[in-house]
Amino acid sequence: MERTFVLVKPDGVQRGLTGEVISRLEKRGLKLVAAKFLAVPESLAEKHYAVHKGKDFYPGLIRYITSAPVMAMVWEGTNAVAAVRQTMGATRPWEAAPGSIRHDFALEVSRNITHASDSVENAAGEIALWFAENELVDWQQCTDTWIFGKN
Ligand code: RTP
Ligand code: MG
Repeated sequence: MERTFVLVKPDGVQRGLTGEVISRLEKRGLKLVAAKFLAVPESLAEKHYAVHKGKDFYPGLIRYITSAPVMAMVWEGTNAVAAVRQTMGATRPWEAAPGSIRHDFALEVSRNITHASDSVENAAGEIALWFAENELVDWQQCTDTWIFGKN
């Protein structure tokens, strides 16, 4: 089953939206595999956002992500990467679909509540960056066949 990495970023945590984000992913049918609440060290922020190094928004992005705690998570499900990106909505909140988290709770690209991996390959890298192998929990949820079942 596909896995993806999700962050509730500092604005989401500060605004009390951690539960809302988790709730939406749970209700979608995704399964929580790992979670940790932490203050992000600068070295981790730089590795996580290495792809954006050199862009004009990079210094501000590093300041923002290290400015207050985040909730880091791994979620699992069918097409988890695409499904979670869809639930988050487009990067720029004014382009996000109504009903998505970024549409419903954000206005600025610099305060867009969440991060979610953008490919299966990047998800694997981000999960390995943020979590040790033994922090990922393999478990059966009693609803599995009602969500992942095929006829
Ligand atoms: P994320 O990585 O956080 O899930 O967001 P994303 O894939 O939707 O967007 P990405 O292009 O990877 O950008 C990463 C984060 O950088 C901030 N950003 N600011 N023009 C700007 O000021 C700007 N552009 C991007 C956002 O916080 C974005 O989520
Ligand atoms: Mg991204």
